[in-house]
Amino acid sequence: MSIRVLLNPINREIFAEKGDILLHRLQEEGIHVEALCGGKGLCGKCRVILDKGKVEKRSLLPDKLLSHEELESGYYLACMVRLVEDCEFTIPLESRIENPKILISTELDIPEIKPAVKKYLLESKPAKSSNLLLSYRRLKIKDYTGAPPRVPEEIYNKITGLNDDTVTITVSRTNGFPHSS
Ligand code: FES
Repeated sequence: MSIRVLLNPINREIFAEKGDILLHRLQEEGIHVEALCGGKGLCGKCRVILDKGKVEKRSLLPDKLLSHEELESGYYLACMVRLVEDCEFTIPLESRIENPKILISTELDIPEIKPAVKKYLLESKPAKSSNLLLSYRRLKIKDYTGAPPRVPEEIYNKITGLNDDTVTITVSRTNGFPHSS
């Protein structure tokens, strides 16, 4: 035998079979309520208020998502309501979705990301030179394009003094100018 379910304030009457879950019946009838967790009793969004009748709960655990006052006032989570007899509910404003939105996955055209700090491998160590400015230009940095980075003199001297070590240059862009360390 069908169960009659009256819904306020939208003034709709729907029918269900004994044991049906209220949220599922609402969705099947095209009555949209918030259900972010998909009916798992995790989000606490599918609130309804039982005005008349009796229902069963699928689980008592999600009740923790409702306050003591709400439980006292007859609030239920629609996804936890098992319909057992004729009843009447109010769908409160906060649970209603007037214009349901569908999330559509899309590919965003994200421009190339230019990190402010990047590490490069030094391809070959520069030879010592008395002209520091020219020496900077001779720094061969793997995969690096752009203006020659400014290397503090003491670091430059350290690089040229190294034997066979691998040297990594960290280039950071400050005020648009590459600076290395
Ligand atoms: S749909 Fe999330 S708690 Fe009911």
